[in-house]
Amino acid sequence: MTSSQPKRRITIRDLQKMKTRGQRITMLTAYDFPTAQLLDEAGVDVLLVGDSLGMVVQGHSTTIPVTLNHMIYHGEMVTRGSQRAFVLVDLPFPHGQLGVQDTLRAAAKLMKKTGCHGVKLEGGAAQADTIAALVDAGIPVMAHVGLRPQSVHALGGYVVQRNAERVLHDATTAQQAGAFSVLMECVPDAIAAEVTRQLTVPTIGIGAGPHCDGQVLVTNDLLGWNSGYLPKFVRQYAQLRQMAVEAVTQFKNDLQNGDFPGQAETFQE
Ligand code: KIV
Repeated sequence: MTSSQPKRRITIRDLQKMKTRGQRITMLTAYDFPTAQLLDEAGVDVLLVGDSLGMVVQGHSTTIPVTLNHMIYHGEMVTRGSQRAFVLVDLPFPHGQLGVQDTLRAAAKLMKKTGCHGVKLEGGAAQADTIAALVDAGIPVMAHVGLRPQSVHALGGYVVQRNAERVLHDATTAQQAGAFSVLMECVPDAIAAEVTRQLTVPTIGIGAGPHCDGQVLVTNDLLGWNSGYLPKFVRQYAQLRQMAVEAVTQFKNDLQNGDFPGQAETFQE
């Protein structure tokens, strides 16, 4: 195979095999073309065009203002930027909550306009009919249980979800309805471990401890690209924001000192 040939895309069958083999699944958020390219190059298995973009890109305090058109705009760039990863796009509020027909229409639009390979939907047991309808229509669905950020106000904040029965019921019902994977957010590790043991489909954790079949983080958090609050479950692997501030400050200094542009950056006759 030459390097110019496209790489084979990861599919939901590959993700299922990874669970069976005990191979951990890596998933990270991506909102644009260059980030998708670099995550793909680093071998990330699943790129999530998360509605977290409302917070880390748009600067809102919740994901609620994000629209279907925003998801289409970002999703299309991410799909174009990646060759290998499975690309998943979030159904934004309230499209997962308006009933089966609305969600089906919104999910089909996401698939058609972005070229993504599946959608993520917040909710478990309450979404069983919707998940089943999407899967029937050929749309792979990852269910998002535990802390559901679109329900932040109903949950009373971004708080750890400790109701084991509820999380287990949501996860198993989503699997029965046809979800190819279940994401658990902010759930104590023992609950996430039990869900992972009981489910045959892969589980992905964020703030759910080490026993899930895979892990997801917001890329901006992992790379230290944004300022502000970082949840307990984040491990920061770089401080890109600090590096960028230093680089821009250096540029400004060079400009003030007359060092930029120099001969090398100037066209001569
Ligand atoms: O929107 C998002 O990025 C997410 C992750 C935090 C899992 O749902």
